[in-house]
Amino acid sequence: MVDYKTLGLVNTKEMFARAINGGYAIPAFNFNNMEQLQAIIKASADLKSPVILQVSKGARKYANQTLLQYMAQGAVEYAKELGCKHPEIALHLDHGDSFETCKSCVDFGFSSVMIDGSSLPYEENIALTRKVVEYAHQFDVTVEGELGVLAGVEDEVVAAESHYTKPEEVIDFVSRTGVDSLAISIGTSHGAYKFTPEQCTRDPKTGKLVPPPLAFDVLDAIMVKLPGFPIVLHGSSSVPQEYVDIINEYGGKLPDAVGIPEEQLRKASKSAVCKINIDSDSRLAFTAAVRKVLAEKPGEFDPRKFCGPARDEMEKMYKHKIVDVLGSDNKLAQLD
Ligand code: G3H
Ligand code: 13P
Ligand code: ZN
Repeated sequence: MVDYKTLGLVNTKEMFARAINGGYAIPAFNFNNMEQLQAIIKASADLKSPVILQVSKGARKYANQTLLQYMAQGAVEYAKELGCKHPEIALHLDHGDSFETCKSCVDFGFSSVMIDGSSLPYEENIALTRKVVEYAHQFDVTVEGELGVLAGVEDEVVAAESHYTKPEEVIDFVSRTGVDSLAISIGTSHGAYKFTPEQCTRDPKTGKLVPPPLAFDVLDAIMVKLPGFPIVLHGSSSVPQEYVDIINEYGGKLPDAVGIPEEQLRKASKSAVCKINIDSDSRLAFTAAVRKVLAEKPGEFDPRKFCGPARDEMEKMYKHKIVDVLGSDNKLAQLD
């Protein structure tokens, strides 16, 4: 059993409470490798932002459980080395799919876990989520549950269309499970293809796809039912057009990739939405930088020469999200 507190990590309770009161959201950035982790820590430490390091089941398999634990501990020390004396870093399981996966993460030093029972029948989602909460809370590990189904691919769950969270269910779900935060479906979606061209309109000036707006009416209704309760948005990458263009220019093929407009995420951040998940934008930044270097310097074979620029590009992107979209810069409890 590894206690996350001995690794220097924190759970999400305090950071969420401050985010709701302060009208901003905490970034939850996924990572799979060292360069992503370095970029996340550099961005959040430089900007004095709390941050959630998010690990999916696939990332856990890719990176190795034991290495992950030491990487998270190393991340805390790295943030301090960068001059951030009191970093607030949570290590969170993204889309946990079973009690066993969640338990294993709690036992290995995660400070927060998500149990994603959103594809299960309602009562089964409640029973599974409750079981994870009962275990995790013994160790002061926070738990995120989910109600409603996002469009796109949610790990092994393929939802052809989204099913918005039903506001009439949220009080019952939260009170019977005891979750610390709730992921909801209001029109966001995972991956770089969040909407089909048919679901979008086209901007007559630029010819670019304009996605349908998020269902803020559903979010408002949920906030009325659960005043002051932490809400989470998954699938919140914006799919920056400049990365898509670079990827396509240098041999990639990402036709009609489209994400969530940043103004809408900014608006959501000012509400009870206090955790915003971003993964695909980091993948796009990384891939754009790597493709560009390798296309321009075909003789290059030192991975540092293309992983380095990829890391710089991700750091730039994370900083932009923190400052211009989520508003979490300078929000550590102790800024000195
Ligand atoms: O929501 C899914 C995350 O982007 C993680 O993706 O399962 O491919 O690691 P992954
Ligand atoms: P994106 O694919 O939009 O980055 O969403 C990531 C996510 O929700 C991770 O749980
Ligand atoms: Zn997700």
